[in-house]
Amino acid sequence: MDIRVLTPADIPHVQSTNITNLPENYFLKYYLYHALSWPQLSYVAVDVSRPKKSPYEPPRIVGYVLAKMEEEPINNIQHGHITSLSVMRTHRRLGLAEKLMRQSQRAMVETYGAHYVSLHVRMSNVAALRLYKDTLGFDVEKVEAKYYADGEDAYSMKMDLEFIK
Ligand code: ACO
Repeated sequence: MDIRVLTPADIPHVQSTNITNLPENYFLKYYLYHALSWPQLSYVAVDVSRPKKSPYEPPRIVGYVLAKMEEEPINNIQHGHITSLSVMRTHRRLGLAEKLMRQSQRAMVETYGAHYVSLHVRMSNVAALRLYKDTLGFDVEKVEAKYYADGEDAYSMKMDLEFIK
């Protein structure tokens, strides 16, 4: 498995991975905005276990993290934000999400001097909550009522990145 920076050519494949795994979907131009504005922060996991049959075969993207920097940070404290993370069912529990998150967090610090990273997650999302809280060390900052289109509340979570500096 390869973990590498997301390129604009990956975007249609990342979009299809996102649609498969999550109800929160985005226009193609929003992915492009991430890739062009903060090119160091978004990563893909590519299955390279089988050789490609032709050079035109698309990359087998099995996971991604789409991330950005907060554009209008409160008190001018630079911080990153995870817009979306997902891994295909066939490739879960292999440590891919953890690796994608750690790569992005490191780049937030090294490239943009981020002090912390934030994200939103559904209160019912047990797998993601375990990953964020127990594996990575995020804390719940607050509950955002009816954050999602279907009315579910979100945890707004935050992780200090000072330890990377
Ligand atoms: N149940 C309990 N704990 C879990 C689970 C699970 N199903 N999946 C991961 N974890 C926790 C475990 O502690 C795990 O460590 P372990 O395997 O040693 O026990 C740790 O997280 C690391 O797991 P990874 O293998 O890195 O996680 P994975 O690559 O499987 O991806 C993810 C986790 C992204 C949550 C995946 O299940 C997924 O794509 N779910 C659907 C999409 C989703 O919910 N995305 C997050 C939405 S929030 C947002 O995008 C900001």
